[in-house]
Amino acid sequence: MQAEGAETLKKSLNSIVQEGSSAAIGPARNLSIPGDHSGINSAEDTEKSAEAFEADNYTYTNNVATGTGTKPLIKLTDVWKIYRMGETDFAALAGINLEIYRGEFLVVVGPSGSGKSTLMNLLGCLDLPTKGAVFLDSKDISELGESELARIRGQMIGFIFQSFNLIPTLNTLENVLLPLEFQEEESSKARKRGEYLLEIVGLSDKIQNLPSQLSGGQRQRVAIARSLAVDPPIILADEPTGNLDTKTGNYILEFLAKLREKEDKTIIVVTHDLEIIKHATRVVYLRDGEIEKIEKRRKNEPEK
Ligand SMILES: Nc1ncnc2c1ncn2[C@@H]1O[C@H](COP(=O)(O)OP(=O)(O)O)[C@@H](O)[C@H]1O
Ligand SMILES: [Mg+2]
Repeated sequence: MQAEGAETLKKSLNSIVQEGSSAAIGPARNLSIPGDHSGINSAEDTEKSAEAFEADNYTYTNNVATGTGTKPLIKLTDVWKIYRMGETDFAALAGINLEIYRGEFLVVVGPSGSGKSTLMNLLGCLDLPTKGAVFLDSKDISELGESELARIRGQMIGFIFQSFNLIPTLNTLENVLLPLEFQEEESSKARKRGEYLLEIVGLSDKIQNLPSQLSGGQRQRVAIARSLAVDPPIILADEPTGNLDTKTGNYILEFLAKLREKEDKTIIVVTHDLEIIKHATRVVYLRDGEIEKIEKRRKNEPEK
């Protein structure tokens, strides 16, 4: 397992802390949890979750420009990431061109060391390329100041990590509320949002638990709820099932797939797990920092 850099983690959490915006309190609706979840969710939990999605307590007003079928949410042009190792340069990414659109379930696969996490950090605008340009919502991120970038990134992207990255001293609800903490949202409204999201992921009865009192799958569900706190159009996940057993991993993936189908979220998953491909609308094969090929998966293609 590869630990995420502390600085990157800090950014990914801080970035979702943004100035108040009504967009933040939009619900994820019309989702139901697919498949058999015995051992993961009780039937009652699942029912509650389904109900939660029907609930219409919030107004869905996403005032963030989210792109259209013709305007990519994220665009990389000739992106290089070069690390200086002593006297030699090492290109972790070597000339990546990629456009990602709303409603895609993009899976980036490649062997260990192929540059997946490096790419994820650039797609998430957590890091700047050595060369080339990254556009988030049509804005060249290299031209944005850190606070402006943090604000846009915070509105646009929710992050999910292999190692969950929950704060161990905060309980479930507090972890989910973290991205909302510095918003000008009333705390009662934020709390409601947090409780709602925990209901969706079937953890209403674990609100008070610390991460150490949760299973791996439950922790990742907390992380998913956290990634949805500000209702961003893009969910970016680095090896989200890497620390989970197959069944729990499948549950998490089906949930992400539902988010794309029902909520038109753009899901980007970086992984070496080829199982995940079955959920993809497009698969990017990465090798030695280069895109080897891009495969369209017609079956899952979003209707445009
Ligand atoms: N901060 C860094 N300094 C030097 N080399 C790095 C750094 N981060 C990653 N690398 C190297 O870049 C390559 C790609 O790393 P990474 O993106 O983590 O791969 P993956 O996630 O596909 O396993 C690896 O060879 C790794 O050793
Ligand atoms: Mg990695």
